[in-house]
Parts: sequence; C-alpha cells; structure tokens
Amino acid sequence: MEVENIKKEFPIFKQKINGKPLVYLDSANSSQKPKSVIDRISSFYETEFSNVGRSVHSLAVKATNRFENTRDRVQKYLNAKHREEIIFTKGATEAINLVASSFGKKFINSGDEILITELEHHSNYVPWHFIRQEKGAKIKFAEVNLNGEVEIDEIKKNISNKTKIIAITHISNVTGAITPIKKIVDIAQEKNIPVLIDGTQGAPHLTLDMQDLGCDFYAISCHKMYGPNGLGILYAKKKWLDLLPPYQGGGGMINEVYKDSISYADTPTKFEAGTMQTAEVVAFSESINFIEKIGMKNILSHENKILEYGLEQLKKKNSINIIGEPKERGSVLCFTIKGIHPHDIATILDDEGVAVRAGHHCCQILHEKLGLPATTRASIGIYNTKEDIDILCKAIDHCKKVFQI
Ligand SMILES: Cc1ncc(COP(=O)(O)O)c(C=O)c1O
Repeated sequence: MEVENIKKEFPIFKQKINGKPLVYLDSANSSQKPKSVIDRISSFYETEFSNVGRSVHSLAVKATNRFENTRDRVQKYLNAKHREEIIFTKGATEAINLVASSFGKKFINSGDEILITELEHHSNYVPWHFIRQEKGAKIKFAEVNLNGEVEIDEIKKNISNKTKIIAITHISNVTGAITPIKKIVDIAQEKNIPVLIDGTQGAPHLTLDMQDLGCDFYAISCHKMYGPNGLGILYAKKKWLDLLPPYQGGGGMINEVYKDSISYADTPTKFEAGTMQTAEVVAFSESINFIEKIGMKNILSHENKILEYGLEQLKKKNSINIIGEPKERGSVLCFTIKGIHPHDIATILDDEGVAVRAGHHCCQILHEKLGLPATTRASIGIYNTKEDIDILCKAIDHCKKVFQI
C-alpha cells in the first residue's frame, strides 16, 4: 500500500501551514476527509438535495433512498443483525447521551450502579452523571493500572448485583489502551448486564463485527472515520431499541399525534427526530468505500508501524515522558516534556506545521489520576508517514531549544 498515494486523496495536504507542509497528527480528535467524501457532499447538494423521509416528490424519494442505503451499508460494515439497529446521531456524544437518557429513564433507579472506568472521555461520564443526579444512582469507576489500562479483574471486582449497565471505552484517547471488550461483554452477559462500548477511537482503526462482539450498544464518531463532520452512529441491539423510550421528540419520530395521546414510530425512526444530516449520511457511504478499498487490516498494520516508530523515536528523547504503557495500544501517543506546558508545545509545533492536541482531552478524571493537568497528544491516521514522525521529533527539539531544556 502506497501511503503517498493515499495522502493525495486528501486535498487538505496540498496546502502549507505556517509555510510548512502540514503534518496532521490530530486524527483522534477528527480525521481529515478524502476527496471522494467531499465530492459526494457537494454533488449531493448540487443535484440531489432534499430533506428525507417526508415529501413524495422525486428528489425527496431519491434522497431518502440514498440515506437509507447508507444505513444498509453501515449494517453490513458492522455486521449488525438488523438494519434497524443503526441510528444516525450527530456524534458519539449524542449516541451515548441517547442511551444514558433512554436506558437510564426506563431501567435505572435509586441505588442502582453504573459501571464506567477512569479512562472514560467526558462523553461517557457526564451523560451518566445526569442519570446519577436524576435517579439517585451510583457511578462506579474501574481503576486504571500503572500502564494506563483497565484490567479484567478490576471490572469483575466492580460488578455487583446492583450493576445496571457497563459503559466502557474501546480504545483510550489518552493512553491508547485497547480494552478487552469481548471478555468484558462475555462476563457481563453471564450476569445479564448490558454493555455500551464507546467505540469512538476503536471504529476508525479496528475491524468491527457487532454480532461477534455481542455488545448491546456501540457508539461511533463518523467524523473520525474519514467521514463528514456532525455525524455519528449508535449501534444498538434491536431488543433494546424496541424497549427504550425515544430520546428526543419532534417531527419524523411519531406514528400518530392526538391532543391526548401520541404514539411513536418504530426503530430506527423513533430515535431520529427532526431533520437529519442528509448530505453527511449519504456521503458516509464514501467513507466506508474508502476504508474498504484500503482494507481495515492494512490501515491497522500501517498505523501500527507508524506508532511503533513514533514510540521508538520519542523514547530516545530523555526529556519526554510517554503517557501509558498498555500491552495493546491504539494510534494515540500522549506525552509531556518536563518544564514546558503542553499548550506551549502544541503552539510551537504548529509553527512547524505539526498539528497535535494539548489539554486534558476531555479526560479530566484520568489526568487527575496521572497527576497531570494536561498532556500533548499526537494521534495517527492512514495518511501519516515515518517522515511525519521525524518532523514531529525535529519540532520537539526546536521547542526544547526555545525553552532552553
Ligand atoms: C473516547 C472518546 N469518546 C467520545 C468522544 C466524543 O465523540 P464525538 O466528537 O463524536 O461526539 C471522543 C472525541 O474525541 C472520544 O475520543
């Protein structure tokens, strides 16, 4: 696989940033978009646009068919059992809020326990906090070990007969730890506890098979999968979607509306209130085409090579502290440099054309545990090369010179 050719498919790399070629190491935040996805969005607006699921005119019918075709495509891609198990959302955050709100309202009561981990992004903590407040439930945090991963025994230890749901990240967006979710799902199933996976960092890098994985809910950020912004997916087992109350009310999600009663549409429509992201959903089919053309296995093996190289190069620099040493790491490399604030590092790297992210990465619980207010994160996508890592390393050297370290 020729990465240089793949990079050419991303128009953003044609430009220079601060006079330097763009080295984009912020894909865990959001990935860049290939031309095929961008073109699909514009061609849809130029010649095919209409709102979906409402009017009967030709444009509306075609647009609705295209929108629903993407649902079929996602079902196949995820190997979900039913097409109705695919709900489009505005991101993984909304997908998790949907589950926390609807599941929480129906199934969580005072004293019940929600099991999450210290690795969680705020998107997989704050929605559960709302339920904690509303229902008087308890949130338990499985602790991370010194390597920045959560061990199976830690999960087992925290399960009790009050556990109503386990909500856990697939890959940490800080330590890169890959969680053994299949084992966790197996343990949970023995006890009839549903499992939600925050698959935001998993879906862009790993082959997914919902039927094999067996989880109840899986949240996806399409914008991290070379897809359009403002789009996410909730995979949920149909048995849950049939049982759960709607998340938002409005047009499209109803069956019949009277002054004294309302009945709801069947899933997935029940969970897709109001005007949806039409062009984005249609164009997401192109993201799947892009991923499938390269092959997820090839994507992973390429990213792993760059990751290994990045770890090797950064470890050579004795002033750098790499966050986490998980046995299995996804494409995330967080680090600190003693004596330089992560925001200063990110700003100086930007001067060199290198885009990274600095801050707590929406994981304040984890940063508190690590005893750090913030870290700098380089994250890898299919377009990154070893040369990008070399440029990152040079930019870090420059940064150390500026701060005389
Ligand atoms: C682990 C994790 N969970 C959830 C989210 C939120 O995803 P979205 O931006 O699609 O709402 C992110 C985004 O960075 C993330 O890294």
